[in-house]
Amino acid sequence: MSNLRGAYVDLAAIRDNVKVLQNLAKNSEVMAVVKADAYGHGLIPVAKAARQGGATWLGTALLEEAISLRNSGDSGRILTWLGSPNDKWQECIDLGIDVSVSSIEIASEVIKAAKKIGKKAKIHIKVDTGLGRNGVMPNDLADLTSLLEEATANGLVEVVAVWTHFALADAPSSPTIAKQLEVLDASFKFVESRGFKNLMKHAANSAATLTSPHTHFDLVRPGIAVYGITPGGEVGKASEYGLRPAMTLKAQAALVKDVPAGHGISYGAEYVTKQNTKIALIPLGYADGIPRIAGNKGPVLANGKKFSVAGRVCMDQFVIDIGDLDFSTGDEVILFGDPAQNEPDVEEWAKASQSIGYEIVTRLGSRVPRIYLNEI
Ligand SMILES: Cc1ncc(COP(=O)(O)O)c(C=O)c1O
Repeated sequence: MSNLRGAYVDLAAIRDNVKVLQNLAKNSEVMAVVKADAYGHGLIPVAKAARQGGATWLGTALLEEAISLRNSGDSGRILTWLGSPNDKWQECIDLGIDVSVSSIEIASEVIKAAKKIGKKAKIHIKVDTGLGRNGVMPNDLADLTSLLEEATANGLVEVVAVWTHFALADAPSSPTIAKQLEVLDASFKFVESRGFKNLMKHAANSAATLTSPHTHFDLVRPGIAVYGITPGGEVGKASEYGLRPAMTLKAQAALVKDVPAGHGISYGAEYVTKQNTKIALIPLGYADGIPRIAGNKGPVLANGKKFSVAGRVCMDQFVIDIGDLDFSTGDEVILFGDPAQNEPDVEEWAKASQSIGYEIVTRLGSRVPRIYLNEI
């Protein structure tokens, strides 16, 4: 039998979660956001499963991510939104990947690339409606659309959407949502007034897809919910929406041994055994993405019982104090998985790490094999 250590990704959960999201946004298309190696789950297998679940779009941050998808054989619509100057614009346009534009500089890059290869670029104009991150400021929309009007007339681009991203979608009652929607609506109307037609409008991430149907428009862009993890905030548990976690992080104890009372555990002895006990050594550490800050806190399931990390998380390993548990070297532990199966929730690791579920799964390193279940 091979070593169990790895992140097990249930592709049936990905498929089912996309179906749940499509069901919530019945009149919209679903873009599964697969940036950052599909939130640490593995870009290509997850993208394939998301398509099987009904995602008509895939979304990535970096251009390289979108190019990898296309090169894997994906022939559907893909949007990529975080390109920089001198990026792989020509390759994206050539591969029929939709690109997002947030500034004159990037629009110029896209137009130049389209001209060079003699192909039309499909553009989504991203508006900063209040997030204060990427996106063109509404005041600069007139100059941007002028440039795009000219490029459209020259057959170099096709503007296909006006879109935005929320600052506080995980707080559905926040007045910022209505404010951002107002700015989006005004921006959309402005772009239409400049002669661009058949435009799509999109705004909703996971939180908005789950909680705010009036934000669904033509397309929803869930990321974290596709993986069965809650966006947090006021959204509640993922299971309340019928979503289930796709990833289970497992390992086998590399060593189980008896230690006496008063024994310091791991660097700095920040945990000291209270009585004669048994400890198990787990071969996952901060080099694998286990947060060091979760020392003495992160939950671990061993033989059906939940323990916490004892002492510091090291580069390659950490320890749990398992008392008199029936447990031997080689036995399985689960760091997080499906809370419905009594496995620790990734949210518990997020809490133990002063972080969010997003960071726990995306930070898992390349030393953690991804093992795919239920591939079709
Ligand atoms: C522009 C954009 N849309 C959608 C998403 C998906 O967000 P979430 O994972 O919260 O659903 C992200 C992720 O940060 C994003 O940057």
